[in-house]
Amino acid sequence: MRCFCIFEGIDGSGKSTLLKKTLALAVNNETCRTAFDKIVELKEPTDGPEGRIIRSRMQNHEKHSRDEWLEMFLSDRAWNVRENIRKAQNCLILQDRYFYSTAAYQGDVEEPPTAREIVQKNLDRNFPEPDIIFYISVTPDEAFRRITERGSLETFEKREMLEKIEANYWTILPAGTVFLDGKKDPEILAQKTLDTILDFVRANQ
Ligand code: TYD
Repeated sequence: MRCFCIFEGIDGSGKSTLLKKTLALAVNNETCRTAFDKIVELKEPTDGPEGRIIRSRMQNHEKHSRDEWLEMFLSDRAWNVRENIRKAQNCLILQDRYFYSTAAYQGDVEEPPTAREIVQKNLDRNFPEPDIIFYISVTPDEAFRRITERGSLETFEKREMLEKIEANYWTILPAGTVFLDGKKDPEILAQKTLDTILDFVRANQ
């Protein structure tokens, strides 16, 4: 069985921390160890050739058009789908960000492509849909406070951007998305993510 889980949220939502905690719980869980050959941790942008370029462009605050960013994230994703996701049969995949991020970050409220259109572009490219989407929800105010505390702001982390990104997420997250309150204790949230994965395993056995 394969279970493809993704973690989404605005910058500063705590999704990377939650992913790590979920991973630690899953590795030590008997049901997970029996159901899956391996637990695979992935992220986008990736550490592949395109992903590394994206990260360095963001760190250097390079200016590129929305369409250029969109193309970069799509080609990084094509690499990730081909090299990692499709190869991870019989695995539990825990992935930090996926095409909902592209839709939320590169989508515009008025000017096409909108967030919904970007989701469709991803589906048109046959990128697989995840089995479970965890959305860690914090207000843009709280997220901005956390980001400012931890240091430098990357290209997409400006205050008003966070509001747009959050609004975009609300237009695209499908029914069935698991919403988690990012102000809660990460240990409690991680228990919830694991329980959701265990429910999936039982339902698909
Ligand atoms: P993030 O998960 O925050 O990485 P890190 O933990 O290294 O800070 O992702 C990096 C940034 O990339 C984040 O601001 C969101 C942005 N991003 C997009 O704009 N579009 C995308 O398609 C993806 C995957 C990420």
